[in-house]
Amino acid sequence: MPTTWLGEGRFGTGMLQLWQDADPGQDPVDLVPAGEIPPGHHHVLDGYDADDVAVSVIHEDSPALRRMAVFDVLVNNADRKGAHILPMADGHRYGVDHGVTFHTEPRLRTVLWGWIGQPLTGEELTGITAVREGLEADLGEALAEHLSPAELLALRRRCDDLSETCVFPGPAGDMPAVPWPVF
Ligand SMILES: Nc1ncnc2c1ncn2[C@@H]1O[C@H](COP(=O)(O)OP(=O)(O)O)[C@@H](O)[C@H]1O
Ligand SMILES: [Mg+2]
Repeated sequence: MPTTWLGEGRFGTGMLQLWQDADPGQDPVDLVPAGEIPPGHHHVLDGYDADDVAVSVIHEDSPALRRMAVFDVLVNNADRKGAHILPMADGHRYGVDHGVTFHTEPRLRTVLWGWIGQPLTGEELTGITAVREGLEADLGEALAEHLSPAELLALRRRCDDLSETCVFPGPAGDMPAVPWPVF
């Protein structure tokens, strides 16, 4: 996520975020002719474009995007669409628009479903453990100013669930699993 902070403006307190010049030549999430999944990509779903042509939604298989997908599971992100991933020229991927997160019920709504059932890496598990430990310390204190006790408890549970299963989860709950529009 780009550096983000609280600021005061004409209309009161609000969020400020550093603008990132994304690389227009990279598409971490993309549309391809149906079933033609290029190497290094994962298939998400099939559909029809505005001209009724059969297409597949795909996303890249990169460690940067995987990190974002793990983050989304932890924060229970209900709005990870294509436009909320900024591809930087050096390969970094910034996530933006985290306005619908931390619900107590399963609400993960994302295009990043390419790793369902795959084992988490040691680095990913270490990151989850760091978040979980932080919740008992400074991170928990900081978040308590903004989240309810129930939301904090649900976050702890999502950390514990991931640490226990050690795999990318699939869709859960009654909400649609993919945001609309997808991009
Ligand atoms: N920090 C940023 N740097 C560059 N582009 C951004 C940044 N934040 C948002 N954007 C672009 O602006 C679009 C709209 O911002 P977003 O936060 O999604 O607003 P909204 O909540 O109104 O949907 C994003 O989809 C993204 O393409
Ligand atoms: Mg948005």
